[in-house]
Amino acid sequence: MIERIRGFGNSVFAEMTALARQYGAVNLGQGFPDFDTPEDIKQAAVKAIADGHNQYAVSHGEPVLREAIARHAARFYNQHSDANKHVCVTSGASEALWCSIFATVEPGDEVIVFEPAFDVYIPNLMMAGAVIKPVTLYAPDFRFNRDELRAAFSGKTKAIMINTPHNPTGTVFTTEELEFIRDLCVEFDVLAISDEVYEHIVFAPHNHVRIATLSGMENRCITISSGGKTFSCTGWKCGWAIASEELIIAIRRVHQFTVFAGATPFHYAIAYALDKEQEFYHQLTAQYTKRRDYLYTVLQQTPLTVFNPEGAYFITADISGISAMDGVEFSKWLIKEHGVAVIPSQKFYCNEERGKQFIRFCFCKQDETLQLAAQRLSQLTTTP
Ligand SMILES: Cc1ncc(COP(=O)(O)O)c(C=O)c1O
Repeated sequence: MIERIRGFGNSVFAEMTALARQYGAVNLGQGFPDFDTPEDIKQAAVKAIADGHNQYAVSHGEPVLREAIARHAARFYNQHSDANKHVCVTSGASEALWCSIFATVEPGDEVIVFEPAFDVYIPNLMMAGAVIKPVTLYAPDFRFNRDELRAAFSGKTKAIMINTPHNPTGTVFTTEELEFIRDLCVEFDVLAISDEVYEHIVFAPHNHVRIATLSGMENRCITISSGGKTFSCTGWKCGWAIASEELIIAIRRVHQFTVFAGATPFHYAIAYALDKEQEFYHQLTAQYTKRRDYLYTVLQQTPLTVFNPEGAYFITADISGISAMDGVEFSKWLIKEHGVAVIPSQKFYCNEERGKQFIRFCFCKQDETLQLAAQRLSQLTTTP
């Protein structure tokens, strides 16, 4: 195995999913819905195929989708972008993250990452040869310490990775927090790579604020999102980046020589979906609020310490009150003894020690799935 990938191992998601299958566990681990994509959105993909949109897409995205992405950004955030100059469509947000990093970070550049972090950030940055500067989000409300964040910035900092609403903690950065980050980015001439895939899953009274729209960030921010979470079609892997013309030219260069183009029919279907009426977006929030409230109440009745998320579709719990195990051992025990699969959050930390008492429950699941998990979790006691 060559040096660049030697440390990676298998993804924790694959490991827990395989174990969950083996023991017939309810899977609240991996973050994808166990309900289907809305029918009209599926039909838009079917229609695109029937209409003959089956050959390579324009490399940086079919115009119809880039225009819909620009319209959506203007409609929800007053972010004005030119579909021809400021948008690149990618294979999911994952590819947008990869292209953004490889388009802007040189070997030896320092990149600040809030930890815990979605599991692709660190390996992507390692492959790019970046020097990673972790800044921890601390329980109980998973916020950063301002002095620690300031201390992480230096003349060598190239970029900061932001993820709001945040996976796995559910933190939604406030305007004040984002302004604090913005001020540091401006002071140290740093780029923000802002992953906002959960932009429409935010619980009242919290609001999603797009850091790209704060003054001073216009030319130093790449906004990343995707259709997977908002339209319950994670398997379509249709994502995008919005940024200044100069940044998008660089991102498109990486994209054209990695995957070249995404799956054409889904460009048409996601273009249709992004234009959906306000009621669709309200319903999405309402349904996820209901699921969040349900699982949070269930978990509060267990001996775990639980943290109520402000957004995204995950709940973090602290196991240290009921177990001396670390999160990985506990997660395996939970699958085997109680038939519920979760993700040990320590896998999202640069230093696993800092997250070894946290596990992540995912609630983008049907009522019946959550009810079955609730039944099983009601038996939860201290581990041996
Ligand atoms: C924070 C975050 N970013 C990016 C992604 C990947 O998105 P996509 O499936 O569009 O590549 C995920 C998926 O779980 C995520 O949680």
